Amino acid sequence: MRKLIAGNWKMNGLSADLGAIEAIASAVAGHSGVDTALCLPATLVGPAATRLPGYAIGGQDCHMAVSGAHTGCVSAAMLADAGAKLTIVGHSERRAAQGESDADVRGKASAARAAGLNAIVCVGETEAERDAGQAESVVLGQLQGSLPDDANGSWLSVAYEPVWAIGTGRIPSIDDVTAMHDAIRNALVARFGEGGAAIRILYGGSMNGDNAAVLLTVANVDGGLIGGASLSAEKFLPIVEAAAAA
Ligand code: PGA
Repeated sequence: MRKLIAGNWKMNGLSADLGAIEAIASAVAGHSGVDTALCLPATLVGPAATRLPGYAIGGQDCHMAVSGAHTGCVSAAMLADAGAKLTIVGHSERRAAQGESDADVRGKASAARAAGLNAIVCVGETEAERDAGQAESVVLGQLQGSLPDDANGSWLSVAYEPVWAIGTGRIPSIDDVTAMHDAIRNALVARFGEGGAAIRILYGGSMNGDNAAVLLTVANVDGGLIGGASLSAEKFLPIVEAAAAA
């Protein structure tokens, strides 16, 4: 399966950073065997997509409705209109801070598809859940509730992001990554058949140039969702190179 390395800029980036975004896109352009994308703050989607019309610029969230009385929200149609090709939905930071439920995330993923966007649907357990031996049941429960019934690999990817590994410099053991990605794959195939076999399962949480090669060679790790290490070409490129070599 072609790997996908997607950057998540979170709430970082001003118009002064458009040059850095262009530098990242041109640095990765030589790696035609890997899909890459940059998910930017909503304010930068239009300007970045205008400067990089062929590149996969994405959003980080969308509302489930096309339009309406939702002050402060951005719809998938608006992201698409601004030039986005994809969006993240259900990131753990939004599940925690904005109280997004699995049903909300499922609605957002469907809205993304309806607007012609690809979706990266995030799942992942907290440290307390892992310590209690509930990591797999939590993640498979989120997966069941967050994926629409028409999910398939042509438009949707899953990102497994242990909450305790995000921005902390800590990653799970390779055995734990292997077990979780296998469990997610089995659940996808059981529910979606061949369509589920083609859904990319990204790993996210402190992936960087030092650990990417090991993580990306694990079976059923089909790419990465990269936060901090996506903010510069210098940090992002080694991850894309590791994906190309994996
Ligand atoms: P990180 O973030 O790479 O900075 O840990 C990943 C994410 O939250 O998607």
